[in-house]
Amino acid sequence: LSAAFATLAATTVAASAITVGFSQIGSESGWRAAETTVTRQEAEKRGIDLKFADAQQKQENQIKAIRSFIAQGIDAILVAPVVATGWDAVLEEAKDADIPVILLDRTVDSDKSLYLTAVTSDLVHEGKVAGEWLAKDVGTNPCNVVELQGTTGSSPAIDRKKGFEEGIAGHDNIKITRSQTGDFTRTKGKEVMESFLRAEDGGKNICAVYAHNDDMAVGAIQAIKEAGLKPGTDIKVVSIDAVPDIFLAMEAGEANATVELTPNMAGPAFDALKAYLDSGTEPPKWIQTESKLYTQSDDPKAVYEAKKDLGY
Ligand code: AHR
Repeated sequence: LSAAFATLAATTVAASAITVGFSQIGSESGWRAAETTVTRQEAEKRGIDLKFADAQQKQENQIKAIRSFIAQGIDAILVAPVVATGWDAVLEEAKDADIPVILLDRTVDSDKSLYLTAVTSDLVHEGKVAGEWLAKDVGTNPCNVVELQGTTGSSPAIDRKKGFEEGIAGHDNIKITRSQTGDFTRTKGKEVMESFLRAEDGGKNICAVYAHNDDMAVGAIQAIKEAGLKPGTDIKVVSIDAVPDIFLAMEAGEANATVELTPNMAGPAFDALKAYLDSGTEPPKWIQTESKLYTQSDDPKAVYEAKKDLGY
């Protein structure tokens, strides 16, 4: 009897297992790598068959992957959209095929009826928290800020810029003097910071760097050190993501603040998807994840230890 029951249970699980396609942007940052790892883990926990497609930073690859998922007739699609525009046609194709699409970590400018839900942080708020931190830290001292933007046209680059500007609004002593994309990568973050340092009298005219992610901040820290200045002291460093490496930099006094972005977007996405597929429960159009500010006074070594094995 128990063998028969086991067989029946296994059949039930197999019958209810779903296949989900995941169009991931690529692997530009430590945060992105963690999101990929966590998405695989969350799928495995739930017995979901995850089909993974790495778009290598190209929207055209994401569109191809989504079309291929639709052709395979899979149950749902997760997409982390590299940029915010240009999704209408492919999202309509998924809708026509009755395949729910969930956006992960970035938003799009398409009509909300074209996707089931978006699991993201409040990207404007993240930038605002970073700006407010800096405004408080510098007080009334003059401060020229250089900004390393994320990928051009991506929702985090647009929103984190806007949020930071809101955060420093009304503090006329703080000015963004240079702003350029570093594409969310360490290498580009370092390169662009080097050019900012050259253009600003070796860094003497820079009071702070605001990076749209920690990886670019880590690259900038390297550039500042190579220019003979002390990151965290001569030039303050504030960024977003809270990846383990930024806590090592904080522990060394080389980074000042970061705003946490959880890499677990897939857990809430799969839960919403299950409720939708099981009982037709429509999730809210936005499932918001938390944003938390960390500074050097938050025991960076302990945070590093707690995070270092989480897939970053
Ligand atoms: O969309 C989230 C952003 O993308 C992360 O902050 C960044 O590290 C990543 O590449």
